[in-house]
Amino acid sequence: MLPTIAWDGDAIVMVDQRKLPVTETYVTCHTVNDVAKAIKTMVIRGAPAIGVCAAMGLALGAARSKATGTKQFTTEFQRNCDLLAATRPTAVNLFWAIERMKQAFAEGAQAGKSVDQLRTRLRVTADRIHDDDVESCRAIGRFGAAVVPDTARILTHCNAGALATAGYGTALGVIRGAVEAGRTVTVMADETRPFLQGARLTAWELLKDGIDTTVITDNMAGAMMRAGEIDLVVVGADRIAANGDTANKIGTYTVAVLAREHGIPFYVAAPWSTIDLSTPDGRAIPIEERPSREVTHVGNTQVAPSTAKIRNPSFDVTPAKFITGIITERGVYTAPFDVALRGTS
Ligand code: MRU
Repeated sequence: MLPTIAWDGDAIVMVDQRKLPVTETYVTCHTVNDVAKAIKTMVIRGAPAIGVCAAMGLALGAARSKATGTKQFTTEFQRNCDLLAATRPTAVNLFWAIERMKQAFAEGAQAGKSVDQLRTRLRVTADRIHDDDVESCRAIGRFGAAVVPDTARILTHCNAGALATAGYGTALGVIRGAVEAGRTVTVMADETRPFLQGARLTAWELLKDGIDTTVITDNMAGAMMRAGEIDLVVVGADRIAANGDTANKIGTYTVAVLAREHGIPFYVAAPWSTIDLSTPDGRAIPIEERPSREVTHVGNTQVAPSTAKIRNPSFDVTPAKFITGIITERGVYTAPFDVALRGTS
């Protein structure tokens, strides 16, 4: 499995997720501006991957800084944090990672470290955030395998895979963990309009792993459930509020309601960095509205009149009451989520 994001000397290289599955090309970021642009334009996407990328971007900015004194270095670091924080609003992992980098910086500065020492500190912290994310995903996979029956037809929405993390994936980590634990798993991937993360990315990476995957359009999920073709749903998350309400890719809410209607377990898989205890419930989660062109066009083909009014909220919130369990690297949490999540924070 190719790494989603990696260092190439002082630069950051990432697979261009806008081009998959047709071409496997890479984008190299030489500056923190390049990194911010890559996140905003979805070269890299997926909550944990965005966080890892921002942390590496801050280390990159520090490595490239010409500042000789800590004052200028600190001003630049702050500016870079603000720039990256303004890229995408919903995935809390972005803000979590920036906060961790700020903390590492502040502790170093307080201890009187030099500019060079601060640079090293930021690089070490970013690398730890990267490596911890892979570890978390593997643990999510191990815990998640326990909720997957011996033979399971699993529906997933969007891409919460290796491409959306530093590696292995969250929802797809559960699927990989189940396969590694010897379960017989087939996957149904919602195509996930408008950006098609399911059709383009989930199908691509699961097929690369030899996992039996069928792509359906989003409006087919209900019929598949009714026909008894789905045993379990597992999705990722962009932000989980303290009460368990979960923001994830637009369409997740619909899938959750359908799963409840058909008595199908609905699991959310996410690392602890996606849990935002400072947000009490889903109403307080900011939902990104993306460019209308994502809706009016599929690739370069126009599919809606140019005069049509367009809405493109990129995420929705699934109320906690529809969630069977939240699978994290610390274990599987069930309702009441407010008690369960706070109890382990
Ligand atoms: O807009 P995206 O592609 O960044 O949205 C991604 C999702 O909604 C994922 O399901 C979520 O980030 C979890 S990724 C492990």
